[in-house]
Amino acid sequence: MLFEDLKPKVVDILKNESNSVTDRLHQICQLLNKTITYYDWVGFYFKNGDKEELKLRTYVGEETDHTIIPFGKGICGQVAVSNENFVVPDVQAQDNYIACSFTVKSEIVIPLFKNGENIGQIDIDSETPDPFTEKDERFLEFVNQEVAKILE
Ligand code: SME
Repeated sequence: MLFEDLKPKVVDILKNESNSVTDRLHQICQLLNKTITYYDWVGFYFKNGDKEELKLRTYVGEETDHTIIPFGKGICGQVAVSNENFVVPDVQAQDNYIACSFTVKSEIVIPLFKNGENIGQIDIDSETPDPFTEKDERFLEFVNQEVAKILE
């Protein structure tokens, strides 16, 4: 499915106020995992209160031990401080990387901004080497912008 076709589905999920915010985020994870073949693990991390760490809010894919990630650690923790997209074509080439599963080959993390502040991120792991393009970045930026609208 094309990213352009997925956008209205993302908007539809997010506007359904009869579901909790976490449920809607989970449905986004399900949608992306189900429709984009190389999105094997999809999750949202958010800043954990006043702490300098990320907390996993919801995800789809293999269970992970990494529900809390300190700022600066791993790909996710680096994005929490850099405020920039991080595309990793080959996770084995990264020194500062937190492995979740040996089947993961690549990863993309896109920061989520609310009122200009980096408050979280969408994290995607892939079992395909080097699958992510600028189209993924633009699409995931769109997802995060839409998600930001429903957050406090
Ligand atoms: N690989 C991430 C850790 C989170 S898992 O991918 C779910 C990282 O290096 O930050």
